[in-house]
Amino acid sequence: MSPRISLVTGAGAGIGAAVARRLADRGDRVVVADRDGDAAARIAAELDGLGLTADVAVEGAGDDLVARTVSHHGRLDVVVTSAGIERTGPAATLPTGTVRDSLAVNVLGSFDVAAAAARRFQAQGDGGRVVLVGSVNSLRALPGQAAYATSKGAVLMLTRALAVDWAADGITVNMVAPGVTDTAMSAGSLGDPERRAALLSRVPMGRPARPEDIADAVAFLSGPEAGYITGIALPVDGGWSAAG
Ligand SMILES: NC(=O)c1ccc[n+]([C@@H]2O[C@H](COP(=O)([O-])OP(=O)(O)OC[C@H]3O[C@@H](n4cnc5c(N)ncnc54)[C@H](O)[C@@H]3O)[C@@H](O)[C@H]2O)c1
Repeated sequence: MSPRISLVTGAGAGIGAAVARRLADRGDRVVVADRDGDAAARIAAELDGLGLTADVAVEGAGDDLVARTVSHHGRLDVVVTSAGIERTGPAATLPTGTVRDSLAVNVLGSFDVAAAAARRFQAQGDGGRVVLVGSVNSLRALPGQAAYATSKGAVLMLTRALAVDWAADGITVNMVAPGVTDTAMSAGSLGDPERRAALLSRVPMGRPARPEDIADAVAFLSGPEAGYITGIALPVDGGWSAAG
């Protein structure tokens, strides 16, 4: 069987980079996309893959990424949307623009890339896999997260809506919901002893996720064993959401 072609956004760092490595390890040809072109090129070189620069918040970025992937590899099998931003602050004084930016990257960026991939999957006619990266904040809110939790809550409903729309085409759409994960995004909170302790007090397993923990779940949802699973949110959170 020829290798699967997998496109991962936000793959220049953190969870996306771990996903790119994990999918390459199982034999996929991985396209590494990030708005930080140097970071994308670095991870792509490590994996002998294709590195692409793209800001998913720019409308049409998805079509461009899919077109460049297909012109290089001839097809597309898997898309993972890990590009995301976390903006925090007290809701009453949070600039509306901050909320808009969060929606632009986390929601519209995921939609734009997933829909572009689905158009390609439909044209190929043999299904496809979409994995969106949500968050425990798709399911739970914390103080200061009006922008982030609103956007990640929308990613959960986007997952369900796309799953229902594309099920008849054999395209599965699922979301992973990482808990606090050891990446640059959480370095500020995990690096501060008080904030780290407060966050980890919510995690029954008592430790942050490693990016590889999330990548393993993405590998499952984007692989052959998950063919009858669509529209779910899979928490990878050390028990956070189970504990409430
Ligand atoms: N780290 C956590 O604790 C945590 C927890 C839950 C969910 N998540 C989610 O996981 C995903 C990855 O987060 P991470 O922790 O790896 O963060 P990160 O900041 O380490 O990496 C994010 C990557 O996405 C890229 N990116 C950001 N905006 C982009 C855009 N508009 N277009 C293209 N690329 C863009 C960045 O350049 C970076 O390489 C995000 O969606 C995040 O919300 C993270």
